[in-house]
Amino acid sequence: MGGLDAIGNTPLVALDLGDQRGEVWVKVESANPTGSYKDRMALAMIEAAERDGRLQPGQTVVEYTGGSTGSSLAFVCAVKAYPLKIVSSDAFAVEKIRTMRAFGADVELIHSPGGITPQLIPAMVARARQIAEETGAFWTDQFNNTDMTDGYRRMGEEILEQVKTLDSFCAYVGTAGAFIGAARAIREKLPAVTRVAVEPAESAVLSGRAAGTHHIEGGGIGYWPPQLTRDDFDEVIAVPDAVAFAEARTAARRHGIFSGPSTGANLVAARQVAGRGQRVVTVQVDSGLKYLSGSLYA
Ligand SMILES: Cc1ncc(COP(=O)(O)O)c(C=O)c1O
Repeated sequence: MGGLDAIGNTPLVALDLGDQRGEVWVKVESANPTGSYKDRMALAMIEAAERDGRLQPGQTVVEYTGGSTGSSLAFVCAVKAYPLKIVSSDAFAVEKIRTMRAFGADVELIHSPGGITPQLIPAMVARARQIAEETGAFWTDQFNNTDMTDGYRRMGEEILEQVKTLDSFCAYVGTAGAFIGAARAIREKLPAVTRVAVEPAESAVLSGRAAGTHHIEGGGIGYWPPQLTRDDFDEVIAVPDAVAFAEARTAARRHGIFSGPSTGANLVAARQVAGRGQRVVTVQVDSGLKYLSGSLYA
């Protein structure tokens, strides 16, 4: 229906690594309508709730989001005529806040001038829960919603159709939906594929370190994502903020992969694993256009 039919079937491209061993292939998810793979999960969450009656025609939808999920939900809710209430923060890119508003969402911001602190996501969750309880809105609750994880299966299937075989799959973990959903589909056909979770070094909770403040939007939430189990990954690579940012800038100039910091982190991890002589697939999560006003491309 409308723009919703443009979700998915994104390109997979190989990087020219010069003399470096191995191969890195990148799933170009910025080709989705809002420029992010979150379009896949927003559609999956809304359509599953429509099917089983959790969401009724005209009912308000509520979610807390750094703005990527929110932009995708705002897009899907606009097409399907559901009012949308978003809880977000000024710690995230202003482009995302404006995108949500462009699609008609009502956006409430929690002030967090220091960046993505360990307190921020819990505060956003609490406010979204409160709105759902007080207004009867349907809370998509992305971190606990298994429909969203299933929404990424198709991304894994597309990767298999495009590359046929691979050794490792790397992805930055926020909700962990993209990582788990795609890796599951890949593992069904290729059980030996290594699944590499990527996280910020400044908040390397999956690596067993303390939560901290970082600037790689979309992940590093400061606690273990509820849908991720230790069986869902084989390895974790923690990438420092500065290294992820530098890699995103290099990727634009060298490969024409124009993205944000989380993609930078993905590419750092993917090149590291490829150096073992492997074919690695990772994801360009979203477009650099979402980050033009911040420090990344200043
Ligand atoms: C920019 C960005 N990168 C990466 C992620 C991580 O994706 P997931 O939540 O599927 O783990 C997100 C999720 O919010 C994101 O917005």
